[in-house]
Amino acid sequence: MSRNAEALADEIRAIAGPAPVALGLILGSGLGHIADAVDGPAIPYDALPGFPHAGVSGHAPRLVVGMLEGVRVAVFGGRAHYYEAGNPAAMRLPLEVLRALGADKLIVTNAAGSLRAEMPTGSIMCITDHINFSGLNPLIGEQTDARFVPMTAAYDPDMRSALVSAARDGGVDLAEGVYAWYSGPSFETPAEIRAIRTLGADAVGMSTVPEVILARFLGLRVAAISTITNMAAGLGTEAISHAHTKAMAPIGATKLEKVLRRALAQL
Ligand code: HPA
Repeated sequence: MSRNAEALADEIRAIAGPAPVALGLILGSGLGHIADAVDGPAIPYDALPGFPHAGVSGHAPRLVVGMLEGVRVAVFGGRAHYYEAGNPAAMRLPLEVLRALGADKLIVTNAAGSLRAEMPTGSIMCITDHINFSGLNPLIGEQTDARFVPMTAAYDPDMRSALVSAARDGGVDLAEGVYAWYSGPSFETPAEIRAIRTLGADAVGMSTVPEVILARFLGLRVAAISTITNMAAGLGTEAISHAHTKAMAPIGATKLEKVLRRALAQL
């Protein structure tokens, strides 16, 4: 753990109180309002030296630490993407800080395109596994043998089954599938989508994979949920754009919040 992460954790405890955090939650495009449900202070990333700028519209860059459904959480309202500055390890410091605050679990959310007709816009998908189609890795340059992180059960089976049960109990359809990471920021071509569909992907997006690799490196247990904001390129009739992503994310976000709230205490 870097000294910087320990120092930032001290600063955050001074603002939000000393109780350890149990779980971190990274919010994707258009999902920022979930942070408003947390009973605790919001700390702008600007006040946390070394935190990324997270400059994508639709993301409110702040960390909220407090209680949600009886669980002490740290909610990252905004993430840094690889495509912003070319750094696949852009979320390393925030995740180190999460660890330093005591958390041992992380839930990652994102907006994604669907590759399956039966998983239309507005659906949510629990990620079972990923394909790193970018070829990038946030651990390149890491000097220790800890860099050889096993990724066999990266998406924690117990956390996944808690999410699936919570969805069933809440009457929410929760698909399950494989997420493929393209770097962005341009959207994919139809040929690129056909390629990853052949390879076994169910959803596609521009985030999450580097964070999951970093989280496993740091010893965090991980689950991840996509909100489907569009059919991927060539598979639907809607025009694909960031504005469309932001406009559609709230449909899935309502379901996501319901599942998360029901699952939190079980995770
Ligand atoms: N591709 C990549 N990222 C995305 C998409 C998509 O179709 N939709 C939302 N984020």
